[in-house]
Amino acid sequence: MKIINTLQEMQSVSYPQGQSVGFVPTMGYLHEGHLSLVARSNQECDLTVVSIYVNPAQFGPNEDLSSYPRNLQRDLDLLGLFQVDYVFIPDDAMMYPKGYLTWVEVEQISNILCGASRPGHFKGVATIVLKLINLVRPTRMYMGEKDYQQVKLLTKMAADLNLSLKIVPCPIVRESDGLALSSRNVYLSPEQRIQARSLSQAWMQAQNSVQTGITSTAILISDATQLLLNAGARPDYVKIIHSDTLEDQSLVTCESRMLIAAYIGNTRLIDNCPLNP
Ligand code: PAJ
Repeated sequence: MKIINTLQEMQSVSYPQGQSVGFVPTMGYLHEGHLSLVARSNQECDLTVVSIYVNPAQFGPNEDLSSYPRNLQRDLDLLGLFQVDYVFIPDDAMMYPKGYLTWVEVEQISNILCGASRPGHFKGVATIVLKLINLVRPTRMYMGEKDYQQVKLLTKMAADLNLSLKIVPCPIVRESDGLALSSRNVYLSPEQRIQARSLSQAWMQAQNSVQTGITSTAILISDATQLLLNAGARPDYVKIIHSDTLEDQSLVTCESRMLIAAYIGNTRLIDNCPLNP
């Protein structure tokens, strides 16, 4: 496992001819969710590259950039358990040098759902991920469906900008009680950790209701919102959208997905799942 700290070195890596390169971009503080992406890349690609970079451009002025959890040594130890060829660890001065001016914006998709509550977030995500793709030059990029809107948006960016890589969406890894793993779960107090179960409980309830024949998304959304409130969560949004277009739906179809964002104390958590009638 080679650690790379400069742009020049990352750009000058010459992969053996014809070998596939799997890429897992992360912001570090790795957990089983991240590691499932690394494992998948190991299975499907000849080489695996992981990046660790807390990208300031995707955090709003009042968000948790300064407190975002970091533990590089632990991350490297965890990655050492896998077949990782390169770990790319850039810094702010390299990624956004003085005078930096260029940004990537995926229109429309960037402004709904999480983009509505986090203005500028997806512009920061699209920009950093395109920069990382240009530096790493992967054939496949592995991303978690936990950040469903992020995968969709980056897939659209890759198609629109004719990037020659395949984006591979991977399933959400969860704790045994259903909570989706997230680096931000470390912020939760024991009491909040219990409240945080409500996100997965809310979509499970919706899935059950759909099985009993309820297809009105207004009812499903209202029930999910009530469950979150009862648990002490503060819903940011609860939506049922078409899984490809991300447009709101009034009735559940085979393509429906429930997306939830809610605050537990000051911690904003997200979750989602398909709803099949
Ligand atoms: P980060 O939150 O560190 O997540 C890195 C990758 O791990 C993303 O693709 C995310 O969807 C995936 N992931 C996180 N939790 C997961 C879980 N419980 N199950 C499966 N996959 C999970 O997402 C980012 O970083 C950044 O926005 C980034 C893409 C690196 C750009 O800065």
